[in-house]
Amino acid sequence: MAKQVLNCTVNDEAAEVLVQPWDTLLEALRERMGLTGPKEGCGTGDCGACTIHLDGKPVASCLLLAMQARGRNVRTIEGLGKPGALHPVQDAFVRHGVPQCGFCIPGVVMAAAALLTERRDVLQLDLEDAVPHSEKAAANDRLRVVCHFAQYLCGRLQLIGQADRLSG
Ligand code: FES
Repeated sequence: MAKQVLNCTVNDEAAEVLVQPWDTLLEALRERMGLTGPKEGCGTGDCGACTIHLDGKPVASCLLLAMQARGRNVRTIEGLGKPGALHPVQDAFVRHGVPQCGFCIPGVVMAAAALLTERRDVLQLDLEDAVPHSEKAAANDRLRVVCHFAQYLCGRLQLIGQADRLSG
């Protein structure tokens, strides 16, 4: 079968690559675009190591066909923050020594960043309830770390917001 042209925006840049119709988005990112931040762990949508943002929402890139990203906005860990201008989640992970071996951390950071963006309106809720696969989260230390730091960051952002209101 002939290759197809995938046009999309990746980390704020227009991208055009040839993909096989059966390529996953994870394969396209890693093998065709050289973005190796998203990792393949399980390949079945369970571990989260391949998490990226598609139109701002966290998705398991191992479960999507590459062509499903056509015309859409893709963000990988490579486009979340920059050296010297880290995303708050990256900053917190570095300062608190979370990364460990680092294999799954890009996915964890992308999930936590999305959680902070999506759930700012429900900051008082138990953030573990906001994580997909919550039954698994209960037994998964990695996701508990995400929740802990997301909660920490939400608290910090609230304090910053209060300080802004007081000074404004
Ligand atoms: S590789 Fe595990 S969820 Fe995609």
